Amino acid sequence: MVDYLLENSTTILIFVATALLGWYIFSLPGMRNMPPGPFPLPVVGNFLMLAQPGVTLLTLFPALAAKYGKIFTFLAGNKPVILINDVTLVKEAFVKRGDITSNRPQHYYVIQKIADQVGLGVTLSNGQPWKDLRRVSITAMRDLGAGRRSMEGNIQEEVTEVLKVIEKVKDSPFDLKPLLMMATSNVISTIVFGSRFEFEDTKFQLLLQQLSQATSVNALFLPSNFLPLVRYFSKEEDHFITSLKTTSKHIKELLADHEESFDPHNIRDFVDLALQMRRSDPKRRHFEDLNMRRAIVDMFNAGSETTATTLQWLLFYMANNPDIQARCQAEIDEVLGDGRKVTYSDRDKLKYTEACVLEVLRVRPVAPFGFPRYVEEDFKLHGYTIPKGSVCFANILAINNDPELFSKPEKFDPTRWFGDNGEVTGRDRSISFSMGQYRYWQDGLSIKTTLSIKFAK
Ligand code: HEM
Repeated sequence: MVDYLLENSTTILIFVATALLGWYIFSLPGMRNMPPGPFPLPVVGNFLMLAQPGVTLLTLFPALAAKYGKIFTFLAGNKPVILINDVTLVKEAFVKRGDITSNRPQHYYVIQKIADQVGLGVTLSNGQPWKDLRRVSITAMRDLGAGRRSMEGNIQEEVTEVLKVIEKVKDSPFDLKPLLMMATSNVISTIVFGSRFEFEDTKFQLLLQQLSQATSVNALFLPSNFLPLVRYFSKEEDHFITSLKTTSKHIKELLADHEESFDPHNIRDFVDLALQMRRSDPKRRHFEDLNMRRAIVDMFNAGSETTATTLQWLLFYMANNPDIQARCQAEIDEVLGDGRKVTYSDRDKLKYTEACVLEVLRVRPVAPFGFPRYVEEDFKLHGYTIPKGSVCFANILAINNDPELFSKPEKFDPTRWFGDNGEVTGRDRSISFSMGQYRYWQDGLSIKTTLSIKFAK
């Protein structure tokens, strides 16, 4: 047998090489009728494009959208990632086919590592755990009430605190971001823990620092997902998981008091709702400590960083467009003439201000590619096959800059949101919160409340 193998080694080698080449050619996206994309190399796919200096997802994906049009395939190693750059196609994929595109990809190595060590929370869960965690989050938000008076009171309190700090620093330059992060995190904190932190609280400042470190990596594009050898020497995902762990540990300390004072007859907030769920049905393992803490991290991450960053951009555009700022201010003065604080019910009267918020969300979407969606069955989109096992992203950045939807998209122009009757129209053209009946969140309501209230005098 050994002699036979040695004698025929060349033939065997050629056979193996031909089989591998055949397998590679037949797995190319073009051969499988998948959307077009850059030519992939064996094993690494298109990953090397991301390894070039200065290239990030934010520079690469818009460039590929410009080259390939409405939809393209990017191979992260051997894992197909489909970017949808057209609003009608996103609607078709995430709304019409939402039954098979609403889960998160859990088969990636890094996601599995996250699941084992820090839990999946709301953003990465699927099935029953996702439904339960999401129900608790939404109930906490609704009962404490995005749009209801108590929530408005919380937001107004934060605005007052922010203004106090701004008044103190007067004309000296200072970094607004930490201040906005504290204010928006406090709004989330009242939903989650039923209370706010003092801005000076060092524990709070530490929590926010850790949170911002825990959001800085896009786990799906790390090479250890598709190159097993890299897992031994690159520890990029470990830094990320360590930050999540530290944050989670910190949240554990904050939870201790809460668990002691839990009263099933007086449900105060997200934590109480989750504890109640856990106690009423021990089979709901996803409410165990680790995952519950992860869901809390999600609420802070998804809720405060996004809102604070958008507020920061809003202030940036106001400062750089004094005419627009003056028009906003005039509208606010007219509607809130007596100097009272703005409420959600003022929204319909603050048309120009709302148009400014929509325009900021358009030009600076904080989640430029949304969150990943896992494809559970093959389906057809724009004549192409989107195969089971691939991951889809809505290219929100490209859609928000599509000249067919927004003329002169590079221009910051709030008036583009007005119809002929002077009313704000076309809110559905803004897909900065993504789309779809399942993963779609209540952001629209809560964020617009928060943003418009920020304008209060
Ligand atoms: C400027 C503000 C915000 C923007 C632009 C934004 C955008 C997004 C986007 C694009 C997604 C992905 C949806 C998808 O999978 O297709 C998302 C998910 C999510 N957002 Fe927001 N968001 C904002 C504020 C908030 C706030 C204030 C909260 C909570 C208080 C929040 C909580 C969440 C959660 C928990 C998810 C995951 C939903 C799930 O997986 O089921 N977001 N957001």
